[in-house]
Amino acid sequence: MAGPMADEMPEPPGDQALGPGQAPRGEGQVPVIAARGVTKHFGSVQALRGVDLDIYAGEVVGLVGDNGAGKSTLVNILSGGLQPNSGTIFVDGQRVSFSSSLEARRLGIETVYQDLSLAPDLSVWANIFLGREQTVKGPLRLVGWLDRKAMAASAEADLERTRIKIGSVGSPAGRLSGGQRQAIAVGRAVAWGSRVLLMDEPTAALGVEQQERVGELVSSVASQGVPVLLISHNLPQIHRLCDRVVVLFRGQVVANLRPAECHVDDIVSWITGAALGARRSA
Ligand SMILES: Nc1ncnc2c1ncn2[C@@H]1O[C@H](COP(=O)(O)OP(=O)(O)O)[C@@H](O)[C@H]1O
Ligand SMILES: [Mg+2]
Repeated sequence: MAGPMADEMPEPPGDQALGPGQAPRGEGQVPVIAARGVTKHFGSVQALRGVDLDIYAGEVVGLVGDNGAGKSTLVNILSGGLQPNSGTIFVDGQRVSFSSSLEARRLGIETVYQDLSLAPDLSVWANIFLGREQTVKGPLRLVGWLDRKAMAASAEADLERTRIKIGSVGSPAGRLSGGQRQAIAVGRAVAWGSRVLLMDEPTAALGVEQQERVGELVSSVASQGVPVLLISHNLPQIHRLCDRVVVLFRGQVVANLRPAECHVDDIVSWITGAALGARRSA
């Protein structure tokens, strides 16, 4: 057989050499999104050092690590906001190179940023459609006449699937609580039939009850087949929600844990580096 072409995703190593960011591969399964050997530096700061990551359909993958470990940098590279210094991103096994987050979004990579970036003065439905406005059919399309009615109705249906009460989809997003903003961001992801949902600390600013709501949204998105990469410091929630937890330590993936097989404390010791030290001195 011919060797792999340059644009093909390198085979993940066999289980023996399982890289810490990689899942054991289901037979014939191609990751929805994957990173290979991704590095990124900011001046002399080495934020990422050769990161490999695979995310498969329907998975909820936790991405954890201490402040400065490189989590946001990795998400920003996966979502097109930053370009890596080296390494490659693959979407459905195809090599991609994003020059903007819009490009990533066009490929179905939906990202919820920590600041919940919504336009506060726009209505709920307008936020859902931001950047993807629908124009009416017929001659008015030529002047970009927006089909507000269709968008509002469709936004309402999307939000219903997230099971969070927003009130009127016509009210400005600025009046919404953190939990409701989350629902919109997640609603967007569901609405666009996204390939993958990346969430960078979506619960950081939320109360306990709202954090639980976000958890439910994550599970419901994943149950529709859309994998979720969830960054959070809420480790009990990460442990409960995730199929797999990837730990970043100083820009490197050091562990790939299955919550079913470990305790929250194990995750903590990988985050702090204690587990790493223990393994090195073993
Ligand atoms: N735009 C930037 N300019 C300079 N340094 C940055 C920038 N973004 C991140 N860093 C640095 O890269 C490292 C990783 O940061 P980050 O990815 O934000 O970590 P995390 O999200 O895990 O807290 C940190 O040392 C941080 O200070
Ligand atoms: Mg961060």
